[in-house]
Amino acid sequence: MPTNPDPGQPHTADLVVFGGTGDLSMRKLIPALYHTDRDGRLSPETRVIAMSRGGLTDADFRGKVDAEVRDQVPIDDPELWRRFLGRLHHVSVDVGGEDRSGWKALAELLAGHEDRDRVYYLASPPRTFGPFCRELQEAGLVTPRSRVVLEKPLGHDLVSAQGINDEVGAIFDERQIFRIDHYLGKETVQNLLVLRFANAFLEPIWNSLWIDHVQITAAETVGTPGRRGYYDHAGALRDMVQNHLLQLLTLTAMEPPARNDRESIRDEKVKVLQALRPITGGEVDRFTVRGQYVAADGMPGYLDEPASTPTTEASRRVETFTAIRAEIKNWRWAGVPFYLRTGKRMPYRRSEIVVQFKDVPHSIFPGGSPNRLVLRLQPEDGIELHIMAKEPGAGEISLKPVPMALSFGKTFTTRVPEAYERLLTDVLAGNPTLFMRRDEVEAAWRWIDPILAAWKADPALPEPYPAGSTGPAAAHELLGRSGRTWHDGEDA
Ligand SMILES: NC(=O)c1ccc[n+]([C@@H]2O[C@H](COP(=O)([O-])OP(=O)(O)OC[C@H]3O[C@@H](n4cnc5c(N)ncnc54)[C@H](OP(=O)(O)O)[C@@H]3O)[C@@H](O)[C@H]2O)c1
Repeated sequence: MPTNPDPGQPHTADLVVFGGTGDLSMRKLIPALYHTDRDGRLSPETRVIAMSRGGLTDADFRGKVDAEVRDQVPIDDPELWRRFLGRLHHVSVDVGGEDRSGWKALAELLAGHEDRDRVYYLASPPRTFGPFCRELQEAGLVTPRSRVVLEKPLGHDLVSAQGINDEVGAIFDERQIFRIDHYLGKETVQNLLVLRFANAFLEPIWNSLWIDHVQITAAETVGTPGRRGYYDHAGALRDMVQNHLLQLLTLTAMEPPARNDRESIRDEKVKVLQALRPITGGEVDRFTVRGQYVAADGMPGYLDEPASTPTTEASRRVETFTAIRAEIKNWRWAGVPFYLRTGKRMPYRRSEIVVQFKDVPHSIFPGGSPNRLVLRLQPEDGIELHIMAKEPGAGEISLKPVPMALSFGKTFTTRVPEAYERLLTDVLAGNPTLFMRRDEVEAAWRWIDPILAAWKADPALPEPYPAGSTGPAAAHELLGRSGRTWHDGEDA
């Protein structure tokens, strides 16, 4: 990847957002780009070119962004907002369609700027990824300074992921391909690396001698209103575990990398995925749980949610909740379960990694409990170490777990950026460290596929759980069998 001629300054780029009028773009990408601009991290000449079939002029698109994004971002300087809108363009194109005029218009807009970084951001349905890359190449728009950004989902199983990777890989080198997992842009995730590898005290105890187990949870309160057409064919395992939760697992479990460079961290992450013990055949029942929410407390069940598609067998069989007991077969982690859990319509919205330490080898006080490190990604980024402390008082010593808490929002005066800001800044700078490499994505699918196959072969439906609850009973038994419990409750 060519380097910035002046490393002190942001790169000048043409950022082409394919699907630039869609939900992701209007809710996440455009606001993130505005914040990046406001923080002085976009070069003055950088342009954002949205593409869709919408037939919009530049002025129409700027008007749309003004109407839809203005309320999502702080506009303290109207001149800066006006300048930001001036960066925006729109080109109409129908990928796969006969009409070539859109590609011609894009080529004209980009002509004369071949020396700029070109970022093609595919914020469109995955079926368009391959055709879009081919049409870009046919239009002569892939330069040595081009990169392509792929949004999730990257396939629905290993074979389809390989298909997308092959199609995109036929046009772009792996070093030009940036696969987004927005969880990797979150402050706590990067802080996990800093906590582990910029502090000496954790490393000696970050292993099976001192850690009892790890829990990784992504709980949502929302259901799937209006999204059933998509969700019926996705489900919690594909939608959350294959990407986000496994990424968090790799960062928690990886060995210290030799360098903080584009490949070293990803090399270590992929080794973790390759060391995951496969869960296959009859074991799937023992080590995985799937559930689907049903109506409770005035909330609809999955099958009752408003939907534009009719209820089918796929709707009845899809999991809105899953919990998995994963194991990493290596020296550091042998015997330490990693429990993964995600669900819709849970009682709280929270994404976190909980590292549960073992109890003291010999306790001289009654009532103690083991230490716990909580890395929270949502709703607020922060880190808490729960330690045992003595309750003040002159009588018998009484213990209480007390959190030593680091809230980024409260500790640092600088604004905590949204995940997409960090990731877009990295794409524009050509830094792929926080993006998934092909071998990572495929190793993740290789582990997920046998679970999907066993669920498909099982005539049983997902276990029902009441909307607003912490999931089906089997999820609690998954830990209960070994005397463990999930980290739940508002002050947990
Ligand atoms: N929304 C999110 O929060 C989110 C989060 C993570 C990942 N994603 C992923 O990001 C992608 C986009 O999601 P979204 O929610 O933004 O979808 P969306 O609202 O349906 O937007 C899709 C965009 O793609 C354009 N498009 C679709 N087919 C096209 C074609 N043949 N030619 C040209 N343009 C086309 C649409 O414009 P026209 O219809 O006007 O052409 C629109 O701009 C999906 O892969 C999704 O899985 C979304």
